[in-house]
Amino acid sequence: MNGRRLADKVIVVTGAARGQGAAEAAALGHEGATVIATDVSGGDGVRRLDVTRAEDWTGLAGELRERFGAVHGLVNNAGITWRARLGEVDPNDMARVQAVNVHGPLLGIQHLAPLMPPGSSVVNVGSSAALTAHYPVAYTTSKWALRGLSKTAAMELGPRGIRVNTVHPGFIETEMTASAAPAFREANIRETPLGRVGAVGEVTPLVVFLLSDESSFITGAEIPVDGGLTSHGGVKSVSDTLLAETA
Ligand SMILES: NC(=O)c1ccc[n+]([C@@H]2O[C@H](COP(=O)([O-])OP(=O)(O)OC[C@H]3O[C@@H](n4cnc5c(N)ncnc54)[C@H](O)[C@@H]3O)[C@@H](O)[C@H]2O)c1
Repeated sequence: MNGRRLADKVIVVTGAARGQGAAEAAALGHEGATVIATDVSGGDGVRRLDVTRAEDWTGLAGELRERFGAVHGLVNNAGITWRARLGEVDPNDMARVQAVNVHGPLLGIQHLAPLMPPGSSVVNVGSSAALTAHYPVAYTTSKWALRGLSKTAAMELGPRGIRVNTVHPGFIETEMTASAAPAFREANIRETPLGRVGAVGEVTPLVVFLLSDESSFITGAEIPVDGGLTSHGGVKSVSDTLLAETA
């Protein structure tokens, strides 16, 4: 896609060195946005920003105020996982995941919203884990908290014409999911009505839409991009079992 749906918009993407963030930054750029791709690791064309560090956000906000005078979009995409289960998870790891997945988006909104004119848009990247009892408890609780932050931010910023929405990816092929056990991938495919995993390019069109003026009356919304994974409440296996018995 190569259009002008985001012309004249300055948009910040976090965690944009790889995976979904890199794909989102590229897609937003293709639609004419001036994209500030950021990541804790920095990199080619990627500005270094650790979402957990308030001073990093202060520096970025100052720079953007100077250069552009305004920011029209923020994609809170940076996130980490930690796969310890309930019985053994360390509270320090709970805090570390929370710092990136929840405090990061909060700091981003706190520092950039003051630069946002009416019509601006924030997209938070949640997860199917935010809609279910996903087993990695640090990650799951952080993504549920991010839902709460998104709802509150939509309410608080609505009167200023700033929209806040959440996308919930299911299993998307990136380095994050590549680090999981093969059984995790297979189990996800089994529970996904479309019967496959997703690609980063299947998330980006929604992110572009939510950043564009086409979604001007959508705020506080949560949209799964998960092949139907979270749509059946976990009972697909019941349906599949009965189907197999009658086959
Ligand atoms: N891949 C999936 O299946 C999936 C599913 C649901 C949700 N998500 C969410 O999508 C988002 C992107 O994930 P991905 O799959 O592209 O993962 P990824 O691990 O490939 O990329 C994450 C990026 O975030 C960056 N990052 C980590 N900590 C950071 C910090 N403190 N400050 C700034 N950047 C930091 C990393 O350097 C990396 O570039 C995450 O929020 C993740 O939780 C992913």
